[in-house]
Amino acid sequence: MMLDIRDLQMSYGDEPVLEAVDLGVAEGEFVSLIGPSGCGKSTLLRAVMGLQKPSAGEVRLGPSRDEVGFLFQDDALLPWRTARDNVALGLRIRGTGKAEARRTALGWLESMGLGQFGDRYPRELSGGQRKRVAIAQVLALRPRLLLMDEPFASLDAIVRHYLTEDLLGWVEGEHLTVLMVTHDLEEAVAVSDRVVLLGSGPRAQVKGRWEIDLPRPRDLLSVKEEHEFAVTARALWDALSEEVRTPVSRRRPTAEAAAS
Ligand SMILES: Nc1ncnc2c1ncn2[C@@H]1O[C@H](COP(=O)(O)OP(=O)(O)OP(=O)(O)O)[C@@H](O)[C@H]1O
Ligand SMILES: [Mg+2]
Repeated sequence: MMLDIRDLQMSYGDEPVLEAVDLGVAEGEFVSLIGPSGCGKSTLLRAVMGLQKPSAGEVRLGPSRDEVGFLFQDDALLPWRTARDNVALGLRIRGTGKAEARRTALGWLESMGLGQFGDRYPRELSGGQRKRVAIAQVLALRPRLLLMDEPFASLDAIVRHYLTEDLLGWVEGEHLTVLMVTHDLEEAVAVSDRVVLLGSGPRAQVKGRWEIDLPRPRDLLSVKEEHEFAVTARALWDALSEEVRTPVSRRRPTAEAAAS
């Protein structure tokens, strides 16, 4: 197991968020985590990263902490460093010499299609390019387990498509194990081996698991023409809608409530 979460309970002060969550991720598996907004997906990732202590249960990591990479929705590039120096930074922190760190960083930028942008600062790059730099920064550290929290949410559909396609290539090439939080159900089906649904909170629990039985390597466009894709995407939609739907929010305010 690369990641083994058992009976995890998380809370903020007295406010419960997750209750009794069990989730295992095997080596080489790509698992997506979906669920209603506010149910505790990011909180679960924080527990895996060791940023927040569980109130009960445990998180067991197969790899060492150094072998776990993170990619968040807001990339964490330093504005005063060039793209190359941003990528090199993590390597420098791990003790790689300056020249080698810069060389390695440039190599990663080149494989992201950003070879000519090494000397640019983050503000001189597009959102998609910055995201690629952030990915290079993470992959340069050669993680075995990659955690991603809605990494491409801010990008337009085309940029997102190509980035996801490239990501899939790197994941397959580097034999990475991935746990990704996403709101995009079609993306979840297209890229994952397994999709896990976290129910609505408070006290969210795992409400569903779907094995995605589509062959690899996957082509993101043609995979969407498969029957299995359509059926699973629909099943996820139905299950997620069920969790999001709260009778209270659908009720119109009564005349008395509106008047008071
Ligand atoms: N630092 C905090 N202090 C107190 N409560 C918090 C804190 N961070 C998150 N919460 C609460 O915990 C719950 C879960 O939050 P979390 O960010 O994990 O949800 P999420 O599933 O990632 O949502 P989204 O899909 O909108 O990103 C929410 O009710 C949120 O308000
Ligand atoms: Mg979140």
